[in-house]
Amino acid sequence: MAQVLPSILAADFTRLGDEIRRVEAGGARMLHVDVMDGHFVPNISMGIPVLKAVRRVTKLTLDVHLMISNPDAFLLPFLEAGADQLSVHQEVCPHLHRTLRAIQSEGGRAGVVLNPATPVSSLEEVLDVMDFVLVMSVNPGFGGQRFIPRSLNKIRALRELRERHGLSYQIEVDGGVSAANVPDLVNAGCDWLVAGSSVFETADATEAYRGLQRDAEMASMAKV
Ligand code: DX5
Ligand code: ZN
Repeated sequence: MAQVLPSILAADFTRLGDEIRRVEAGGARMLHVDVMDGHFVPNISMGIPVLKAVRRVTKLTLDVHLMISNPDAFLLPFLEAGADQLSVHQEVCPHLHRTLRAIQSEGGRAGVVLNPATPVSSLEEVLDVMDFVLVMSVNPGFGGQRFIPRSLNKIRALRELRERHGLSYQIEVDGGVSAANVPDLVNAGCDWLVAGSSVFETADATEAYRGLQRDAEMASMAKV
């Protein structure tokens, strides 16, 4: 069943604990945490101290998206701070196989992120190593951007590759996810859908989350 992951980048940071409780009340099982370094992406967001604080207030699975130039130097600190899974960008990992294995050897689930301009074919040699793949459906760095429809082709291609090779990696999508595209994303093959502004920048994050998760579940059932 497809899952919607609230992205706390769009939450009110002055009351982050309350925001997390709101999406927990809506049934969220995983949270997406965006780490930006102002170098790989043109923005700076949050890091280890915030992740530690989030870990203290929730038992949800923490999905940490590293938008940083040198992820290899920070894998262990983020896992120790409470990440259950870490995703690294293909574009900054010359030794991607080693990076994925390093995350897994420390007990984390390892994902690879593809920018909109990075092809699925770049993952050919690590398809059986990665635990999940994150397809960026906007150029990373900011919340509230418009969904790039071409991302659907990449999601379909990743689903086909998974079937063809008998693999079991999850397919995640991030950026511009809303009620308008959740059914298409689930039909294309998404297991996890990250949603920031369409959850937190609403009058009621609990209800917004419930609505998106319901749409995702309805599309999952219709697909079977
Ligand atoms: C963008 C981040 C996203 C962001 C998505 O660089 O990786 O996770 O929070 O925000 P929305 O859902 O508002 O596009
Ligand atoms: Zn993200």
